Amino acid sequence: MHNLTLTQPEQLADTEFLRALPKTELHLHLEGSLEPELMFSLAERNGIQLPYASIEEVKAAYDFHNLQSFLDIYYQCADVLRTEQDFYDLTWAYLEQCHAEGVVHIEPFFDPQTHTDRGIDIEIVINGISRALQDGKEKLGISYGLILCFLRHLSEEAAFATLEQAKPFLQHFVGVGLDSSEVGNPPEKFAKVFAAAAELGLKRVAHAGEEGPVEYIEGALDILDVQRIDHGVRCTDSDAMIQRLADSRMPLTVCPLSNTRLKVYQDMSEHPILELLDKGVCVTVNADDPAFFGGYLLANYQALSNALGMTRLQAAQLAANSIEASFISDEEKQRLLKQLQDVLDQLSA
Ligand code: ADE
Ligand code: ZN
Repeated sequence: MHNLTLTQPEQLADTEFLRALPKTELHLHLEGSLEPELMFSLAERNGIQLPYASIEEVKAAYDFHNLQSFLDIYYQCADVLRTEQDFYDLTWAYLEQCHAEGVVHIEPFFDPQTHTDRGIDIEIVINGISRALQDGKEKLGISYGLILCFLRHLSEEAAFATLEQAKPFLQHFVGVGLDSSEVGNPPEKFAKVFAAAAELGLKRVAHAGEEGPVEYIEGALDILDVQRIDHGVRCTDSDAMIQRLADSRMPLTVCPLSNTRLKVYQDMSEHPILELLDKGVCVTVNADDPAFFGGYLLANYQALSNALGMTRLQAAQLAANSIEASFISDEEKQRLLKQLQDVLDQLSA
């Protein structure tokens, strides 16, 4: 836990306080930041007929009852992404949002197979995303590390083929992840490809315990040897797992608005993130797929304040966890943690 000090810790965290906190975002699917407005303009630019007549119709379709009902639409929407410029524009729009919300470092995901399976070269995807990330670093001061995710509803051979295609571009990403339909696709299905990624010097993260059981969190830790668990909220089914996560400070990248929109919880008031924080688990706040779930990082923090009465001190601890859980150097972590404490001192002066 971090030794943050704040003179008025019981005060509820409000938007301006939350914006001022230096934050990182560690669980964000770039394809999930495709806003309906950009989707329509890319469809027009690429001469694609969308199955929706208007932005209102699109938004009405974003009414999900579980993960799969979302994924079906999410993969369909990604079809408008065709050129390097499309991937640049998608990433740049997300960076501008980060800049407006006080996000100082990001480690976003992308799903190459969603694009290569449509005949788009991985080079187009990586170049468009990387060029925007580099511009974001130079022009907006947002540092980054890109994470390549394997789609777990596909085979391990397909994941290996993707890793092979990505090898010439290794310098563009820091790690690999595992996403898509969780239940029925346990971590051990990808044991060999994660070991190969480790051999290449890549970090590992995996979605586990979003809808899937606590055994999937265990599998991600013990078989995939991950440095972070994405979601992981189903650890609440096991006191032993909570204790293990807390003792090891294994980070969970939690996504509150995603969890309520995908009905992991019926209402935000049921969300366990603050209980896990208080038990010493390194929980962090993230947006997952903001264009589909009704809000970016700040909206996720704000939702915790509104529904769970999150205090300013808890919000600052979550921001500190996001720094601790990132893949930046220890020096950079210390610099950002100091920046966070300076902001707290200024705001409570
Ligand atoms: N891909 C995009 N968002 C996801 C999520 N929340 N879970 C699994 N796969 C995803
Ligand atoms: Zn996710």
